[in-house]
Amino acid sequence: MNYRHAFHAGNFADVVKHVVLARILAYLGRKDAAYRVIDTHAGAGLYDLTGDEARRTGEWEGGIGAVLRARFTPAVADLLAPWLDAVRAVNPPGADDATLAAELARYPGSPLIAQALIRAQDRLLLCETEPGVRAALEESIGRDVRAKVLATDGWQALNAYVPPKERRGVVLVDPPFEEPGEFHRLAQGLAEAHRRWSGGIYLLWYPIKDVRAVDAFRREIERAGIPKTLNIQFDLRSVRQADTMTGCGLIVVNPPFTLAEELRTVLGALAPVLATDGTGRVRLGWLTPER
Ligand SMILES: C[S@@+](CC[C@H](N)C(=O)[O-])C[C@H]1O[C@@H](n2cnc3c(N)ncnc32)[C@H](O)[C@@H]1O
Repeated sequence: MNYRHAFHAGNFADVVKHVVLARILAYLGRKDAAYRVIDTHAGAGLYDLTGDEARRTGEWEGGIGAVLRARFTPAVADLLAPWLDAVRAVNPPGADDATLAAELARYPGSPLIAQALIRAQDRLLLCETEPGVRAALEESIGRDVRAKVLATDGWQALNAYVPPKERRGVVLVDPPFEEPGEFHRLAQGLAEAHRRWSGGIYLLWYPIKDVRAVDAFRREIERAGIPKTLNIQFDLRSVRQADTMTGCGLIVVNPPFTLAEELRTVLGALAPVLATDGTGRVRLGWLTPER
């Protein structure tokens, strides 16, 4: 296993994934009833953008850096707030966004974004198999009775921990996509988990690099017959380049009823900010409708 998320932390794909995750958690937090977040491939939780890995790629500058430099309408700023507040919370207090854009020191991964948004009654389950990354995750989460870090394989967790006892919540599946067959594994893992817990929200991330693999993946999800499956495609540029991630996608099963409209607004505003050549584009569509 070579994948190191530290190279990519805060890039356009993290921005898209974390904005969507934060919108789902904001929705779940509207009701008092407890919910659970299961992050099957959690990563380190917090990334040092001044460190060697982040500096070598500089990917965050075109992601979170570009967002902090941009100006948005009040409606878009409101939709971004749950995620951006979690980013501000891990950086020096009181710095304005222009200062942060120039010298952002740290970027929170999905575990810390979830930790910032869950309430006293909610629970957070984090799986990470890489020992060094898991140690960093434990440190960044700190002592928090609401959160548990496990060494469990994320693919097994997907089956073993659903349904959670709260019967409300979201499962984030964000594998590294380094090994062959991961698209198929993702589709299969979703179908199995959905058989156990059909009412859960599932958020699956995938890269757009190999377009044929992406098409086959979407067809497999459609064939699985899981109702209420929303596909979000975010293209950073219109021209495909072999072996380059030119976009990313998210599948959301059982999305909150507010989500599609919110994402049209917020991702529509983010597309020109994140796109390097002005051709950024967002497409939202139902892979399978509500039954
Ligand atoms: C894309 S990163 C996760 C990023 C994180 N979800 C975020 O948004 O901040 C994928 C992580 O999965 C871990 N990983 C790889 N295989 C795994 C497995 N079978 N189970 C759990 N974690 C795994 C890797 O070590 C890596 O830290």
